[in-house]
Amino acid sequence: MPDDDLETRAVDAALDRHRRDRTRLVEILREIQDDLRWLSPDTLTAVAAGLGVSRADVEATATFYAFFATRPRGRTRILFSDNVTDRMAGNRALYRRMLAQFGLSGDETSADGRVSVGLTACTGMGDQGPAILVDGRVVTRMTADRVDAVADLVRRDVALADWPEEFFRVDDQVRRADVLLGGPWVPGESLSAAIARGRDGMLAEMRASNLRGRGGAGFTTAVKWMAARDAAGGPKVIVCNADEGEPGTFKDRVLLASHAGKVFEGMAVAAWCVGASEGFLYLRGEYLHLKAPLEAVLADMRARGLLGRSVLGTEGFDFDVEIRMGAGAYVCGEETALIESLEGKPGRPRIRPPFPVVRGYLGRPTVVNNVETLCKAHEIAKRGGAWFAGTGTRQSTGTKLLSISGDCDRPGVYEYPFGVAIAEVLADCGAERAIAVQVGGASGVLVAADDFRRRIAFEDVPTAGAMMVFGPGRDLVDVAAAFADFFAEESCGFCTPCRVGTRLVKRLVDKVAAGHGTHGDLLEIRRLQSLMARTSHCGLGQTAANAVVDALERFRPAFERRLAAVDFEPAFDLDASLATARRLAGRDDADAHLVQEFEP
Ligand SMILES: Cc1cc2nc3c(=O)[nH]c(=O)nc-3n(C[C@H](O)[C@H](O)[C@H](O)COP(=O)(O)O)c2cc1C
Ligand code: SF4
Repeated sequence: MPDDDLETRAVDAALDRHRRDRTRLVEILREIQDDLRWLSPDTLTAVAAGLGVSRADVEATATFYAFFATRPRGRTRILFSDNVTDRMAGNRALYRRMLAQFGLSGDETSADGRVSVGLTACTGMGDQGPAILVDGRVVTRMTADRVDAVADLVRRDVALADWPEEFFRVDDQVRRADVLLGGPWVPGESLSAAIARGRDGMLAEMRASNLRGRGGAGFTTAVKWMAARDAAGGPKVIVCNADEGEPGTFKDRVLLASHAGKVFEGMAVAAWCVGASEGFLYLRGEYLHLKAPLEAVLADMRARGLLGRSVLGTEGFDFDVEIRMGAGAYVCGEETALIESLEGKPGRPRIRPPFPVVRGYLGRPTVVNNVETLCKAHEIAKRGGAWFAGTGTRQSTGTKLLSISGDCDRPGVYEYPFGVAIAEVLADCGAERAIAVQVGGASGVLVAADDFRRRIAFEDVPTAGAMMVFGPGRDLVDVAAAFADFFAEESCGFCTPCRVGTRLVKRLVDKVAAGHGTHGDLLEIRRLQSLMARTSHCGLGQTAANAVVDALERFRPAFERRLAAVDFEPAFDLDASLATARRLAGRDDADAHLVQEFEP
């Protein structure tokens, strides 16, 4: 029986903490769920009434995010990270072991209501997986013994706070440091240099640096900042995109864990250039463990006068940062979807133009930058644009952080000047025998061994930061199937080409993987990729089938080995699908059966 008083108290407390502000709906729902474990229909009604918005609006947000439960679930919720590198490290066997511990057969809740066990997308722990989330807290380095230990703790109802600390250990694993990872943070140094240069002077340094965004698209940061500075309306906003949902990427996690001062000072430099007064760090739900340490850095910076009113004593320069948590939706990394999420809505990408720099958060000019980009802005403020442009290549200046995982001896974060050859990176991480690398995550490119001379740079192989290594013996059909699964799960469903296309690609790849595929299916995958790339509304759908098609082109024999020896085979058994109808009609004669025949 639900405890009505408990529910009312939890809802009221969360609403009050957030000043009954509708834009904070994601935070409000998170906190209520923390208290009540799930968001019941009554809870959603009470939240809607408390915020003065429609029930449908609250329900739309609650049902959009993977980490919100709108149906009862276990007192403990365990989610296994299911990235391709987790699969390579044996996560599925561990998942099955955990299910067996509780007598479960799939993604479900135990009969005693004690536990729910399921799968989730990449948790950003590729260098120390397989990982799981337990009530939102990440547990790394899962083994069979650790599965048994976790099951025992859950069975004995031990509070998370009393679990062995070792389970929650998250390491930085920095393997190669350059100016960013190797340099210290001297609080206020870059911000005072930026202020001393004046707004235009600092923007001139940003232009000279030719810094391009590290979030994937590679847009020139100075151009973005100048557009926001020139845009009408205010107060202007700086958003740090710490959603880091791209499978295989975890370099932003390391920056936030050990270089947060640089991130926040970079945001303040941006605010100075643009004339912004409000900042948000949008932190992916999987990085909940970083929230409290990040709040501590912010408090320290406020105490030093680096944030707040009259930053560093500069009259008229007021700027502060608030941390907002995501709730398990990859598409929220897309900047307009992220802004929707910040406004408390489902994270569906907006139609552009207008671009966020003109009309973003609550219609105000908004700059969205990646965590690493903001650290670079901090470096440029400190050492100048010419110094920055002196490293890297012509079109890709500075250094780049790579998150390396998969079949290599030394997974972790590596910092290189842009232009480094893939072969050099592989030698450094102990992966000389690799047969392929996926650069840029699930939406990136698959590079086969004969192309390992190619270079990491916007001119050649661009990347937001992921490099997943596949060693000898890996089957690229399985890799393609994992990427197809990911996009079918993460499509937000807003536009048909992506919503339907990702499902069809998944079905076709699964069909090939199961040995029923034909040449026609391979052609169909290519046709769908081309259609989705041309007609999808946002970058997710536009790139969703790229990795599958790359694998198909570069590892054709692996796919052909699995094809059925016919030109066409149906994706499902038509006759079997009519079994229920036959049963209901009480017929099982020859005419009630379909015979499928296909001409070669
Ligand atoms: C589906 C999708 C997911 C994205 N996820 C992220 C992300 O997790 N982090 C990020 O910085 N950018 C992400 N981006 C890119 C952002 O939309 C945006 O270009 C970026 O944050 C801009 O920052 P930058 O100019 O500093 O690179 C994503 C884009 C798409 C289409
Ligand atoms: S492309 Fe996919 S993720 Fe992007 S808006 Fe369309 S359905 Fe949503």
